[in-house]
Parts: sequence; C-alpha cells; structure tokens
Amino acid sequence: MNRSCVVTGASSGLGLATAELLRERGWEVVGLDLDAEGLQRAAAALGLVPVVGSITDWAAHERAAEAAADLAPLHGWVNNAAIDLQGAAHEVDAEHIAKGLGVLLEGPMFGLAVAVRHMLPHRAGSIVTVSSIQAVATFPRYFVYGAAKAALLQATRSVAVDYGPVGIRCNAVLPGTIDTPMLDVVIPTGVSREESVAREGELSPMGRIAAPGEVANAVAFLLSDEASYVSGAMLTVDGASTARCFAYPPLEI
Ligand SMILES: NC(=O)c1ccc[n+]([C@@H]2O[C@H](COP(=O)([O-])OP(=O)(O)OC[C@H]3O[C@@H](n4cnc5c(N)ncnc54)[C@H](O)[C@@H]3O)[C@@H](O)[C@H]2O)c1
Repeated sequence: MNRSCVVTGASSGLGLATAELLRERGWEVVGLDLDAEGLQRAAAALGLVPVVGSITDWAAHERAAEAAADLAPLHGWVNNAAIDLQGAAHEVDAEHIAKGLGVLLEGPMFGLAVAVRHMLPHRAGSIVTVSSIQAVATFPRYFVYGAAKAALLQATRSVAVDYGPVGIRCNAVLPGTIDTPMLDVVIPTGVSREESVAREGELSPMGRIAAPGEVANAVAFLLSDEASYVSGAMLTVDGASTARCFAYPPLEI
C-alpha cells in the first residue's frame, strides 16, 4: 500500500496500538507527540517517523503532514492525542478551561483543518477523530473534557459534509474505558492498578475494559477502503456501556 497516515499521540496507549496496526497493514505512519522519548521507542519498534511537537501548535500538524507526504501520499489522519482532565464546574477556573479546550478541542480541530488541506489536492482521504463516550454521557467531574469531546463530534460531521463531495471521509470513534496509561491518572489512592482496572470493568456490561488493540481495530477499519461509504459516523466502542440506562446487576445466565 502506498499511503501515509499521521497519528497524534502515537507514543502511548491507543495511538501506539493504532500506529502498530497501521504499520502491520502496510501504511507509512508519522507519529506526532509531545513525548520525544516515547516517540523514539515507537519509531524503533514500529518503523514510524517521529515528529515531536504539541497538537496545540498548528505548525506541528503541518510538519507531520509534510513528513507523511514525503513517505507516500497522505491518505489517513488520526486525531488521537489528548489528556485526562478532571474538574467539576465549581472547581475550575478560566485557565483550566482555556488549557483544556486548547488540547482537547483546538488541537484536534487544527488536525482536521491541516489534514483536509493536505488531502484536498488528491481528492481522497480518511480522517478519524478519537472522541469518547463522554461526548454523549457524562462521568462525574469531567466538565471540560466531556464538552470538548462532544464538540469534536460536530466538527467531524462538518468535515464529513463539506468534503464528502471530494472523496474525503471523516468519522469519530467513541471509546469506553481503555487499558492505557491514561487510566493511571484516575486510580484512587490506596487502590492497586489491577483493582482499579477490575472496578472500571464492572461498569461495563461486558464486565471488562477494552484493550487498546480493540479500539485500534475500529480506527483502522474507518481509515480503510472497507469503510468506503462510511462518513460522518460516530462509532461507539464501549462494550455496551452507553446502551445501558442504570447499572442493574448482570443477568445470571
Ligand atoms: N483511556 C481511556 O479510557 C479512554 C477512553 C475514552 C477515550 N479515550 C481517548 O483516547 C485517546 C488516546 O488516549 P490514551 O488512553 O491512549 O492516552 P495516553 O495517555 O496513553 O496517550 C496519550 C498520548 O497523547 C500524547 N499527548 C498528550 N498531549 C499532547 C499534546 N498536546 N500534543 C501531542 N501529544 C500529546 C501523550 O504524550 C501520549 O503519548 C484520547 O483522545 C483519549 O481522550 C481514552
């Protein structure tokens, strides 16, 4: 396959799993991440091209796009990098909101805009933005994170509608809890990681959280030609978590 893809946040978690899967499927991959060391490790392990920078910087996206185009025509873009950001409305201030929206909303919107500009000359491409089930149902104390993830769904629809006529598809993935380093931030004091993962898993009807590769599979599908008529879609990958209204105990079957 002679195609390249930019994956933001490729040093860790879902971004790393996605980069690995895309490499296995023959994509050239450029990873854009703040974490230079992690990116170097991913580059050595997967053969991706590292671009160190922040998604809050438009120029970093441009550098990633150019690095990808040097490898092969830029056909894919995964807006994945993010931070976990907790805080209820009464706990946050102007700085928290501005910083949070900078990384969680502005950054992926820069990615969408830069990706489209670079795909337009070829009149083809597929963009996937990693949102969250927190775009449609809230967890306690995620005032800014959830709002940003919800706004990304509308940005996804906007790009899908505007560029459908020229063959650029745009979709969003809404994961439930995934076993990545992001989870470490929410481990309660005095609770082991194993116990925390088990507790998070019990919140899902499937009784477990997702492995990064399970979500990467969905991202890779949306990027691929198998999804050639899928655009403007919001693909939930949450083990039925958002399908359930109340946390009734599971059926004894
Ligand atoms: N882990 C979960 O339970 C979960 C659930 C739903 C959605 N998500 C979403 O999945 C995506 C991936 O998260 P993850 O769990 O793999 O997290 P992670 O913390 O393991 O990885 C995030 C990566 O993004 C990078 N990053 C952070 N800020 C950056 C910036 N400003 N510029 C460039 N890179 C930056 C980090 O260095 C890291 O490599 C995120 O969009 C996250 O919101 C995660």
